[in-house]
Amino acid sequence: MMFIDEQQAEKRLAELRREIHFHDHRYYVLDDPIITDSEYDLLFRELLELEEQFPGLITPDSPSRRVGGTPLAQFETVKHLFPMYSLDNVFTGDELETFEKKIRRFLQYEGDIVYVTEPKLDGLAVELVYEKGFLTLGLTRGDGIVGENITGQLKTVQTIPLRLQKSGGEIPERLIVRGEVYLPRHGFKQLNKQRSAAGEPLFANPRNAAAGSLRQLDPSVTARRPLAFFVYGAAEPDSFPCRGQWELLSYLGGFGFRINSYVRQCRTLEEVQDRYAELQKIRTELEYEIDGMVIKVDSFDLQNRLGTTVRAPRWAVAWKFPPSQVTTRIRGVEFQVGRTGAVTPVANLEPVIVDGVTVKRATLHNRDEIERKDLRTGDQVLVQRAGDVIPEVIKVVTEARTGEEKKICFPEHCPECGHRLVQPAAEAVTRCVNPHCPAQRLQNLIHFAGKGGMDIEGLGRKNMEQLVRNSLVRDIQDIFRLQTQDLEKLEGWGQKSAKNVITSIEAAKKTTLSKFIRALGIRYIGEVNAGLLARHFDTLQQVMSASAADLRDIEGIGEQAAASLVEYFADPAVRQMIENIFAAGVTIGSEEKGGRQLDGRVFLFTGSLSSMSRNEAKQRVKFLGGQVASSVTSRVTDLVAGEKPGSKLRQAQDAGIRTLDEKQFVELTGG
Ligand code: IVH
Repeated sequence: MMFIDEQQAEKRLAELRREIHFHDHRYYVLDDPIITDSEYDLLFRELLELEEQFPGLITPDSPSRRVGGTPLAQFETVKHLFPMYSLDNVFTGDELETFEKKIRRFLQYEGDIVYVTEPKLDGLAVELVYEKGFLTLGLTRGDGIVGENITGQLKTVQTIPLRLQKSGGEIPERLIVRGEVYLPRHGFKQLNKQRSAAGEPLFANPRNAAAGSLRQLDPSVTARRPLAFFVYGAAEPDSFPCRGQWELLSYLGGFGFRINSYVRQCRTLEEVQDRYAELQKIRTELEYEIDGMVIKVDSFDLQNRLGTTVRAPRWAVAWKFPPSQVTTRIRGVEFQVGRTGAVTPVANLEPVIVDGVTVKRATLHNRDEIERKDLRTGDQVLVQRAGDVIPEVIKVVTEARTGEEKKICFPEHCPECGHRLVQPAAEAVTRCVNPHCPAQRLQNLIHFAGKGGMDIEGLGRKNMEQLVRNSLVRDIQDIFRLQTQDLEKLEGWGQKSAKNVITSIEAAKKTTLSKFIRALGIRYIGEVNAGLLARHFDTLQQVMSASAADLRDIEGIGEQAAASLVEYFADPAVRQMIENIFAAGVTIGSEEKGGRQLDGRVFLFTGSLSSMSRNEAKQRVKFLGGQVASSVTSRVTDLVAGEKPGSKLRQAQDAGIRTLDEKQFVELTGG
């Protein structure tokens, strides 16, 4: 590293902080970065190195502080300088009209009332205090009077400015803003995927996941959760050069805060009602969950005249969407055995419609949850459908009990193979540990041939079940021995479909190391870990004979994954199966060795991908030796355009850059 003295370091650090804040804002808030990820990484690395050399020069607004400060023993409570009010709710258009009538009566006012409508974000309300432009305090709402100090946790949220931008105009001595911290859907999915792989309990919905992430005493845990923030208000609004909510939002936007793009100004109640219908229609397409629309009287003058009740302002109201929770009855409970032997109780319900979807089944999670909620067959229960998660039973309506309900008995033996079930002390999961359990075997086969495995077209869940039922497939190796004649004679199959599947199986025989390892469905070895292994080892043989210590040495492979691999490959039945698979003609190609097939290519993404998150897509590129850029530059070789691509698509096309759609990208990066 170049030697510089403290004075020079101080100057350079100030520059770096400013530059990084600027680029963070372009990237996270405006979604319009102007430098590449690697250029950004260089700036960040320089900052970290200088701060390491001169720890005394670290300032509280340094971007390095986002990685999470010291863990807390408990949260400190802090009184809000101004109470954080709640909102009254309305549920129908009529109730909304009553809301306006009340306002008119209160104000004795017949003139126009302009409203600002905003999505009601389903996250957590927080307050941020900026002094002389620096974020000095971040609080939960708490009971509205007293909140908890979660400054360290909030600093890890990339869309929360650590320092106000000067472009917003004169920086006020003190600025107290309020807004919602939330977890985007893809982050939620990813988090639950990781938790499921690690055998940890899943979060029921993004809101709980966001709350759980913010309430981590150790901010470095929060830092690993991709939380985001939208600002929707401020305390002491009269002290700003704004006449109302609409102007306030753009004023706050000038300081670097992210403003929700679905905010609208509505000049009549009819416009408000139309907007509600529009938001309701698109709510499931948004990258985050919303549970209604907030309607605010725009003018601060009118707001001040209206004032607040003890609970909520008179000038705003939340119009909630119809609930995604409904009551129904548990008809019975089934116990399903998954790929890893985990036994999941699933309730059969009297069918009900939730968010326009018929729900007939809901997960009861595990034995402890059934006991905790005291669920019984015949119970009337509250069922919730949240986002993309399987519906779940929230609680029993105990008042509706008749005495006829029957206790749900968790089986002691596997419902599929009769083997005794075990529940390890530290786990909530009950498992069938019989490696030959037919249910596990079926799930394993489904996984092996499915999208997360070898992706053999035509061998989805239904067909695999049929093949197993007809004893054509028992183990993985049998898949590769199937003949057209075997399939043709099955119910619902013809010559053509049989031939097509055999062709896909033949094609799948030529595979890659990471795909093959992933397809085996070893516990804790998903796409990412399989990729790491394939990058490190040349052959499957090497992976099979690696010790736990060898495996742990690979960056990214943890203790659980290493132990799981060793245990899996130590099983003689597994070794025999793998030998048979190769004997049936499967070969592992070397094209993936070192993952260099995207060498020299620089990828840029725009729009959303439906089969994976942006992060996963970037990982795929990097894993195969490619690079990722964040804006159109001369280095970019490929633009991947997902759904609703942004302006980058046109810029890239203008620049003659090759564009790929999602399907092409998925094919290119290994299916
Ligand atoms: S304004 C004084 N605007 O809804 C007005 N709240 O019951 C206070 N919320 O916990 C809130 N999106 O976290 C406002 N655009 C929005 C909102 C919003 C979500 C939440 C807020 C609060 C709850 C109010």
